Amino acid sequence: MKLTTSLIAAILPALAWAKADPANDEDLAIQAAKHVIYSYEGLTPPAHLLDLTRQGKVGGIITFGENVDENLGNVIQEFQTAYAESPAYFGSPLLIMTDQEGGKVRRLPGGPGDPAKVTGQAPDPKAAGAEAGETAASVLKSYLNNCNLAPVLDVYRTADNFLDKVGRSYGNTSELVSACATAFIVAQEGAGVIATAKHFPGLGAAGDENTDLQPVTIDIPLDELRSTDEVPYEKAIAAKVDMVMMSWAIYPALDAERPAGLSKAWVQDELRERLGFKGVTVTDALEAVSLERFGDDAQRGLLAGQAGVDLLLASGRNATQGEAVLNALVQGLKDGSLSKREFDAGTKRIDKLRKKLEF
Ligand SMILES: *[C@@H]1O[C@H](CO)[C@@H](O)[C@H](O)[C@H]1NC(C)=O
Ligand SMILES: *[C@@H]1O[C@H](CO)[C@@H](O)[C@H](O)[C@H]1NC(C)=O
Repeated sequence: MKLTTSLIAAILPALAWAKADPANDEDLAIQAAKHVIYSYEGLTPPAHLLDLTRQGKVGGIITFGENVDENLGNVIQEFQTAYAESPAYFGSPLLIMTDQEGGKVRRLPGGPGDPAKVTGQAPDPKAAGAEAGETAASVLKSYLNNCNLAPVLDVYRTADNFLDKVGRSYGNTSELVSACATAFIVAQEGAGVIATAKHFPGLGAAGDENTDLQPVTIDIPLDELRSTDEVPYEKAIAAKVDMVMMSWAIYPALDAERPAGLSKAWVQDELRERLGFKGVTVTDALEAVSLERFGDDAQRGLLAGQAGVDLLLASGRNATQGEAVLNALVQGLKDGSLSKREFDAGTKRIDKLRKKLEF
């Protein structure tokens, strides 16, 4: 009893010191920042976001159509230069990502001009998928974007659902989607641009509902999810896909409460343990309406981190959102609600991915 009391007396000041130590907070912030992807409005990034980058508080940027003109490459270079001056710099560039799927979902001028559906209907879908991946890589490179949030691996079920309507799904069978998506991934990664398989475990069985706009529940049996929707992920993982984006739909087959991207059952048990994915996981947009029940963007970011997602997408076009997510992560690491051990493993995965980047 006496021993315990004196032990506590000895430890308490050390704990208080660790909590209050600003140098320690700064280190945590720099580590946590590797997990946060920021966004901004319009053609000119705010000076504040460049300052944050110079302080090592930014892990990457997602670019949107509104950010794009012929000067985008110079803007990205500004971010990379600011980052290279930061205490976080470890010899690798920031992640710069965009949605360049093809067809309607294309943020940068240039191809792939065809939507995934047209690729899937080509006489040789595999060759068409590879060509789309090469095109995407060269367009991303020309704007210094080093990561594509594509291809879509969703296997659509009903014609005209929210994906098929704009041709975002390669097709309605796992085989066709696997063939096109894997070829796209291999071609794009071979050209030095990171590929992202999305949206795990699959949005193909959704009807007209889009998780960007409303809560979505995909209530189909685990058997069907595994034998149809997850098959393209098995192939993509075998083809060494770098990243997987989690879906914001709820799949009661494994977790009736939380969307896949906030669910340990989906992120860790299914994707990492059952399918053996060892790469980097990323959320979909944190500001998605489907997450309205899960608090503000900072709370959602922390929940995703707790579920084991590595990169958090603060894509609401202001730096405040990214900063709020960063602060929530630092707080979570300090109060222990975010496991330091698991978070460290994520940081290692991110570092490993970024060490591959050539620009
Ligand atoms: C896929 O779509 C085609 C026509 O678009 C249809 O003939 C076929 O039955 C569908 N296959 C499945 C598995 O739904
Ligand atoms: C930043 O974006 C988020 C997400 O869209 C939004 O909730 C928030 O109000 C915005 N904040 C500012 C300061 O614009």
